[in-house]
Amino acid sequence: MARKTIKGIVLAGGSGTRLYPITRVACKQLLPIYDKPLIYYPLSTLMLAGVRDILVISTPSDLPTIEALLGDGSRLGLTISYRTQEKPEGIAQAFIIGADFIDGDNVMLILGDNIFYGAYDFLRQAGEFTQGALIFGYYVKDPQRYGVVAFEDGGRVLSIEEKPARPKSNYAVTGLYVYDSRVIEIARSLTPSKRGELEITDVNNAYLEKGELRLVKLERGIAWLDTGTCESMLDAGNFIATIEKRQGQKIACIEEIAYRAGYIDRRRMQAILGSMGDNAYSSYLKEVVREVDGGS
Ligand code: G1P
Repeated sequence: MARKTIKGIVLAGGSGTRLYPITRVACKQLLPIYDKPLIYYPLSTLMLAGVRDILVISTPSDLPTIEALLGDGSRLGLTISYRTQEKPEGIAQAFIIGADFIDGDNVMLILGDNIFYGAYDFLRQAGEFTQGALIFGYYVKDPQRYGVVAFEDGGRVLSIEEKPARPKSNYAVTGLYVYDSRVIEIARSLTPSKRGELEITDVNNAYLEKGELRLVKLERGIAWLDTGTCESMLDAGNFIATIEKRQGQKIACIEEIAYRAGYIDRRRMQAILGSMGDNAYSSYLKEVVREVDGGS
């Protein structure tokens, strides 16, 4: 079957109440995780999966600041568009809001506060997606906080439950999902859950019932971090700082990813550097350019 384009959605919704008072005025997705705004991390995950046409969905109050940061994406060789989610009515609502953006293509959704790091092979699998649904399972200590997937040894999914009191496995469903365009109709057919949201778990169960849900297990060696609390934000920042200081290589440096992938050429990169001024970030990018151009 011919492979369709995969479009990307970053859902940067939520009111960030658990981060009060940090989020009283500031938007959660623009808060720093060590040396970059949080939203750079999920955006970089989409870029590394080869997704270049991206819709960012956020609240009416936060969307303008996110747009001020990322613009139309052309700076990075991407196309970025924006839509609002008027109320926090669930992750699955993103497909209804983004229906005309998806426009018959496949779609990869990532939650705006999810950070993935490690061997990115699973992203290649995501990029090779053709139809149905693809979810990613990650072993955690506290599965009851998440969507939980139970599966057979061979990987066949048995059940997915949203925040079960008694989890059937330790595998959380991460905030990265790939679907074909039928997801729009599925989302439209859902009724809100007890917490008043269109649940992504219900979307996954709809594909499971059709026998078209595939699970990729994220192995040990991959880090999946979320940043919903002050504690987890600090942990994530320390984690990124540790790796970056040790290696001298940045995680989720979106300009670097665009340059290495050939989304932007040297002239565009020089223009970006010219607008950045002198700082640690621009020095790093200059090193990247030297390395890539020098072929070493
Ligand atoms: C949401 C999903 C849940 C998933 C989690 C990943 O939870 O409902 O299935 O495991 O994201 O971050 P929420 O952030 O709405 O509590």
